[in-house]
Amino acid sequence: MFNIVVMVSGGGTNLQAIIDKVKSKEIPDTNISAVISSSRKAYALERAKQNGIPGEAVVKKDFQTTEEFNKALLATIDKYSPDLIVLAGFLVIVPEEVIRKYRNRIINIHPSLIPSFCGDGFYGLKVHEAVLNRGCKVTGATVHFVDEGTDTGPIIAQKAVSVQDGDTPEVLQKRVMEEAEWIILPEAIKKLALSHNGK
Ligand code: GRF
Repeated sequence: MFNIVVMVSGGGTNLQAIIDKVKSKEIPDTNISAVISSSRKAYALERAKQNGIPGEAVVKKDFQTTEEFNKALLATIDKYSPDLIVLAGFLVIVPEEVIRKYRNRIINIHPSLIPSFCGDGFYGLKVHEAVLNRGCKVTGATVHFVDEGTDTGPIIAQKAVSVQDGDTPEVLQKRVMEEAEWIILPEAIKKLALSHNGK
């Protein structure tokens, strides 16, 4: 069995895509051990609850120092002994101790074609605003391994999406999610699950 922990901060539409593909066994022999959120209000936690998946919030402002938060986050992850950690809209910097312990076992979904429009400050709608401001005709999404940098780890998968006349950042974000993110993230997990399960 391939155990994954999904880390979230918001609506959880990427989490939902993973849940659906695990349930339908398109991602075989895989179990979502837990959903860990940086916010108690994340709808992604509701999606976990609706699907009988343990959900926890580890909230930075509950801790006196970043070090205490980092330790608590690592301890929470360790409880579920994941084979893979999936960052699906997780907006908090992943502590170095987590990256060290789970090296090459953390992946992230980024809503652009890395190396364009990535790195510090490029998250959520800001990415799509920058794409539109630059006048790009094509954008997309990227799944990559997570290392100590921001969006700098080895690329696993990418999918291009057309930019259309009159697109707003919100319309473009939705198209990138529907036509790229919700496809390549489950596909990447399936590939890693198959190699983990020796298939
Ligand atoms: C997605 O756009 C993803 O690319 C980015 O954060 C957003 C998360 O959305 N990393 P959701 O919570 O999966 O709906």
